[in-house]
Amino acid sequence: MIEGVLFFDEASILVDGFEAWGAVLGGSVRRSREALNVQVRRLKRAVKARVLWRWAPLVPEDDFTACCRQAINELKLRGSGRIIGDYLEFGVSRGTSLACMHHALAAEQLGDVRLIGFDSFEGLPPEAAEEGGSMWEPGAYGSALGTTRTYLKRKGVDLRRVNLVKGWFKDTLTAQTRRALKLEQASLIMVDCDIYSASRDALFFCEPLIGDVAVIFFDDWGWRSDIGEIGQKEAFDEFLAAFPELSATPLPAYLPQARVFLVTRGGAKHGEKRVTSAMATPG
Ligand SMILES: C[S@@+](CC[C@H](N)C(=O)[O-])C[C@H]1O[C@@H](n2cnc3c(N)ncnc32)[C@H](O)[C@@H]1O
Repeated sequence: MIEGVLFFDEASILVDGFEAWGAVLGGSVRRSREALNVQVRRLKRAVKARVLWRWAPLVPEDDFTACCRQAINELKLRGSGRIIGDYLEFGVSRGTSLACMHHALAAEQLGDVRLIGFDSFEGLPPEAAEEGGSMWEPGAYGSALGTTRTYLKRKGVDLRRVNLVKGWFKDTLTAQTRRALKLEQASLIMVDCDIYSASRDALFFCEPLIGDVAVIFFDDWGWRSDIGEIGQKEAFDEFLAAFPELSATPLPAYLPQARVFLVTRGGAKHGEKRVTSAMATPG
């Protein structure tokens, strides 16, 4: 992925240089400059297309889409009133998981659900230097907002239903954002921001938006505590401890290191395995 970004930057420099060169040459000859500009635009498009498709997906697309459909069906089974609220995603990067959820919702005849993605669009935050250990570093997974939009469009995502919020979570995950986006209910929540602090910020932001039931996906559950550091498990643990009226029941996940929970307000129903904060923590 990072290779792809570097390649794109180098190509952009090349194209910019080409453009500048074209501008000098064609300064007095308008028509040839226009022709050159057309060539430059074509070259840029070709470079962009190549870069977009060199991007290695960060979630397994088929398995994650199937998992999204399963989650949607759990919500349909248990829902009352407005069944499916918004999909909120924390950690969009290029947009693979968001595109998967978009297609899963469409396949379940829920094409009107909003998809709202939060990301710096500059990669992991400075805190990753402390929290990421040897696995993650600041700037990793960076994808510019425009590039992500282009990728989503090419994946067949209806961008009118997508709202991408750019910025560090400490600045964007606020009550004001909830009001500005008219967020009332989040039913599907993807926490794919890797590190503990970002995951914690995401969960606490979502709490007032969780109604009777929601599904929360964690993409990076299995990494940090395996090596004695804190990560998504601990963030979820703190979240459940802070809001004892919420309980979580595990659902099948799409990867060994991922976890998916059905979160209910007011306790698990009879026969379900309720996850308390103590159970969420073990390695
Ligand atoms: C692994 S990538 C997400 C992958 C994405 N879900 C996909 O399917 O391609 C993690 C993302 O989290 C974002 N992120 C992590 N911590 C953040 C923070 N504190 N503020 C904003 N963005 C953050 C990074 O910018 C990065 O794009």
